[in-house]
Amino acid sequence: MSTSKLVDGTFLKRLVIINALVPALILAWDGYHDQLGVNAINFLIRTTGLLGLVFLTLSLLITPLRRLTGWNLAIAPRRQLGLFGFFYIATHFLIFWLYDRDGSFGDTLGEIIARPYLWFGFGALVLMIPLALTSLDTMITRLGPKRWKLLHRLNYVIVPAGVVHYYLLVKSDVRQPVAFGVVVALALLVRAIWHYLDLRRAAAKQPTVLSVKKKFWSGEMVVARIFVETHDVKTFRFVMPDGSALPFEHIAGQYLNIALMIDGKRVNRSYTIASSPTRSHYVEISVKRAPDGHASQFLHDQVTEGMRIKIGAPAGKFYFAGHGERVVMIAGGVGITPMMSVARSLTDRCWRGDIYLLFGVRERKDVIFEHELAQLQQRFPNLHVEIVPSSERGRITKEIVQAFVPGLSRGPVMLCGPDAMMTAIRKILVEIGVPDGEITQEAFVSPLQVIEQVPGEIATGEAANVQFKRAGKGTDTSELTILECAEACGVNIPFECRSGICGQCKTTLVSGKVTMDVQDALTSADRSKGVILACQARASNDVVVDA
Ligand SMILES: Cc1cc2nc3c(=O)[nH]c(=O)nc-3n(C[C@H](O)[C@H](O)[C@H](O)COP(=O)(O)OP(=O)(O)OC[C@H]3O[C@@H](n4cnc5c(N)ncnc54)[C@H](O)[C@@H]3O)c2cc1C
Ligand code: FES
Repeated sequence: MSTSKLVDGTFLKRLVIINALVPALILAWDGYHDQLGVNAINFLIRTTGLLGLVFLTLSLLITPLRRLTGWNLAIAPRRQLGLFGFFYIATHFLIFWLYDRDGSFGDTLGEIIARPYLWFGFGALVLMIPLALTSLDTMITRLGPKRWKLLHRLNYVIVPAGVVHYYLLVKSDVRQPVAFGVVVALALLVRAIWHYLDLRRAAAKQPTVLSVKKKFWSGEMVVARIFVETHDVKTFRFVMPDGSALPFEHIAGQYLNIALMIDGKRVNRSYTIASSPTRSHYVEISVKRAPDGHASQFLHDQVTEGMRIKIGAPAGKFYFAGHGERVVMIAGGVGITPMMSVARSLTDRCWRGDIYLLFGVRERKDVIFEHELAQLQQRFPNLHVEIVPSSERGRITKEIVQAFVPGLSRGPVMLCGPDAMMTAIRKILVEIGVPDGEITQEAFVSPLQVIEQVPGEIATGEAANVQFKRAGKGTDTSELTILECAEACGVNIPFECRSGICGQCKTTLVSGKVTMDVQDALTSADRSKGVILACQARASNDVVVDA
């Protein structure tokens, strides 16, 4: 067996775990045999603190090491290093609290307040708690990769705070804390320089084949054709009622929102636009029939050609902007829809880069767009497609990914499919060495509840005044939403779906009353704080909004 096969991510993780446990075991052994010296508590506090700082510093050095050496496997044990750092620092504090301060809360708190070096040490420990709690892969999906990454940047504060704590604590010989300080400062400096260079490089890159425009449209479209794709997926093609071109521009990967009236109740759902933005006269969505699903069952069983459907589009930030020389897409099941739009769009435009599409399905009969993909592959040799039915080959593994995409160590990689699949693949990609920030994913999560249709309280023709407090602007309206009022008087409220789903347009109602057709994006905490969805809210009387 070759060395590279022996030294894989699992090996490195185990190596770190074993090495990190050794000092703890030695300390426990020495403690048990009363061999910790005359000032045992002090020795334990110092040693665990030092060990914690060593592991945290090592975790900070992983990315520079990987980037400088190109050794992507180095990333594998980073989490273990961070967790052991937390373990030793938490133990350091517990010993201090239980033995040095006799377990007294008041005494410990008094000491922390009185001694500046403890401000830094205790502060670092508190900041480490959310990182430790969110260290599992499932938390990446729950928080969303962006928020998770942002949270874990706290490490850039925690480690320097630990070094300052150590420096202030050591009264005479400061060589060791200064050495830590130099290493940490260099690691942070290198990262800051890389970050700056990456930003400059990204800014310098002009969109090659696609550009991002954000003009939202909503209105009625006609179901022109319905295609049966598989035993449980149908494609719906929508056109404008008058046959004109689409009134909006979308980017491959974005989605649209549809509003259906099902049994007198309004149901809002999002569906990826599977067709290519190069097709200017229609959009298509491909919908999988969800068992007992309200909207998908309705679309499959009740919607017929010629029907009019209320649509809002485009929305979403999951797209490929056409940069670089390669795009890798990994889809599971109906998660193929955004990838299909990208593949269709890039081949339509004869994009020169390599397009890799790895498509996991349960069984052969679940493969959507099989014939079209085969045909596109014949015509475009730069499109590489591999279908992995789990009934025949099992789930998508690291080996499958590596064999399919040669030399994969950079993004962009797009993921779309069931949550568990995306979490597993993301982990594989990071292990292979793809930077987490170069992986994007889309979850097909929609609210479960059906929305009762709530007629606005304000009768058409009765004007109410809408004031935007911070902008100092206002307007009278009889039927516009708060978002439309804001747009009418030039007040900027961010938005995305305009369907009450994404929550981008959350804003606070200062006074007055509004009605909202859809409130899916609001939590009960939002409601209690007077937060409204500007895209859904209509004034019932004169209102003041914090915008
Ligand atoms: C950005 C985005 C893009 C999407 N793109 C696509 C796409 O291209 N194609 C596609 O098919 N889908 C897509 N979806 C998913 C789509 O929006 C719907 O969520 C999906 O069609 C299911 O909706 P439904 O109304 O049929 O099912 P729902 O009624 O919402 O039910 C969903 C599932 O949950 C179960 N369920 C319902 N109520 C409950 C309950 N109270 N407790 C437990 N389980 C319950 C149902 O049995 C069903 O299996 C996308 C979602 C998003 C957010
Ligand atoms: S814009 Fe998405 S909820 Fe209002």
